[in-house]
Amino acid sequence: MNIILLGPPGAGKGTQSQRLVEKHGMRQLSTGDMLRAAVKAQTPVGIQAKAVMDAGELVSDTIVSALISDELASMGNDVGAIFDGYPRTEAQALMLDEILQQHGRTLAHVIELEVNEDALVERITGRFTCASCGKGYHDKFERPKQEGVCDRCGGTEFKRRPDDNEETVRTRMAEYRAKTAPILPVYEARGIVSRVDGMADIDAVTDSINAILEG
Ligand code: AP5
Ligand code: MG
Ligand code: ZN
Repeated sequence: MNIILLGPPGAGKGTQSQRLVEKHGMRQLSTGDMLRAAVKAQTPVGIQAKAVMDAGELVSDTIVSALISDELASMGNDVGAIFDGYPRTEAQALMLDEILQQHGRTLAHVIELEVNEDALVERITGRFTCASCGKGYHDKFERPKQEGVCDRCGGTEFKRRPDDNEETVRTRMAEYRAKTAPILPVYEARGIVSRVDGMADIDAVTDSINAILEG
């Protein structure tokens, strides 16, 4: 099963993807994570993407689509894909259709996390992740069970994203409204969009998503 998780920055796409990976053995394909890895490794793509990401703007459609295509090519066809933060423009949505077709895959669901943008700034500025395994946390909403120690891997180092400041978040939200939200009608016409209340607590959101996947 292949699904898209759609929603503005901080909506919970990454948080819910990690849970779907654990429960259903699916693979998370986050273009944001792939780009951050490229920035860290200083690949040509990373060098080009860094300033764009720091400004909260969108990286080119061809770059992110190539990342997705490569990742799918490396996966077994029996493993479901969770597209997290991709597609983000109409052009990317068209490219994804082609890529899926090449791999003999179809989209089962597009799940939109509906959220109140004002609450998202608090979510994003409080976010941090384990430096070793990438598990996501939040200063207020999801602290490690033991202070300073990762629940999943026992790591003791954590990191924060350079684009998680209020000013950049506002730009990221504006990009979402202008370029990403308009792709929803395309999927609505295919009857595959479901909406989930992304303001509910993290476990309740997971339950709603699982109900859609199992329904
Ligand atoms: P990307 O990494 O995709 O960032 P984003 O879309 O801005 O989304 P976030 O990762 O910030 O939010 P999320 O929905 O995953 O929230 P999370 O689960 O972490 O992209 C970054 C940049 O890369 C872009 O700006 C762009 O430059 C570039 N890029 C990436 N993809 C691209 C593409 N396709 N095309 C072009 N450019 C691209 O949750 C946030 C926090 O809230 C966490 O701390 C979590 O613990 C907490 N939380 C989650 N759910 C809840 C809840 N229900 N209640 C309370 N707290 C919660
Ligand atoms: Mg994310
Ligand atoms: Zn960890």
